[in-house]
Amino acid sequence: MKVFRRHFSKSQLILVIITAFILGVYYPKIWEQMRSINFEEKNTASGNLSADNYNELLFSKEQLNEFNGMGGHPIYLALLGRVYDVTRDEKHYGPGSSYHFFAGRDASVAFITADFKNDAEDEADNVLALKSPGISSLINWEKFYKSKYIYKGKVIGRFYNESGHRTKYENQFRAMAKEAEFDNFNKEKLRDKYPACNIEWSLGKGFHVWCTESSGGKERNWIGYPRKLYEINNEDSRCACIKNENLETNEVVIKPYDNCDSESQECYYHAN
Ligand code: HEM
Repeated sequence: MKVFRRHFSKSQLILVIITAFILGVYYPKIWEQMRSINFEEKNTASGNLSADNYNELLFSKEQLNEFNGMGGHPIYLALLGRVYDVTRDEKHYGPGSSYHFFAGRDASVAFITADFKNDAEDEADNVLALKSPGISSLINWEKFYKSKYIYKGKVIGRFYNESGHRTKYENQFRAMAKEAEFDNFNKEKLRDKYPACNIEWSLGKGFHVWCTESSGGKERNWIGYPRKLYEINNEDSRCACIKNENLETNEVVIKPYDNCDSESQECYYHAN
């Protein structure tokens, strides 16, 4: 330290320490960014940028495949035809890691099926071919990638064409996503109006359902009566706490529990 003091003034020393700190923190990130940029130049659709957004890159499936983290290459993954740089989480996506399956490709289907072994490339992003396409779950994953990682561009194929414009498939998916969002919104409204009961089970007594001012996780200033509630077009019932004024509603089907007083705030029953 004395040697430093002899050659540098105090303020110069502070400057050197701050510069070293900044380089220490940011240098790996700068290096990572440079690595991606160089690699992109060589491996994206001849440097093609999308028609809509100058900063957006367009990838063929083969080009995206190069971004798989092998040999220290950057790691990109695509979800619903959109590409994200996930290099910063090499621990999840790098070679040999749990989710390397997603690296360098659009494997949207596996986000629903959890089938991480099936690498049939042609159908890996065909989410609408699934019996239940798990649209809400895919949208949640999309929100997750958008917020956590840097968006890079689009994959030419099922969701976007060679100019980076939406395909019919993408339009169909987004229309279904809107419907799913609307359904979820309505379901949430029903859960607010008809909150779930508390429920427990024991060998001797079977099911015990009861209502409180916070059952179903919905804080309120009323308790309600436990009833079997069937949503329209749904054969399965759930136990809901029904407010006095809603006992005769037509919005949902409400049935009492057998052997339970209509004014009681708890009921017992055995499953059939
Ligand atoms: C449909 C099934 C599943 C899919 C598609 C999936 C996918 C993923 C993905 C993509 C990540 C990385 C997220 C990121 O970028 O930060 C992740 C992380 C993780 N997953 Fe899964 N996963 C599934 C099921 C599971 C299950 C069943 C478990 C537990 C048994 C699990 C445990 C974890 C853990 C511990 C992490 C790391 C969290 C962290 O360190 O930030 N996953 N998952």
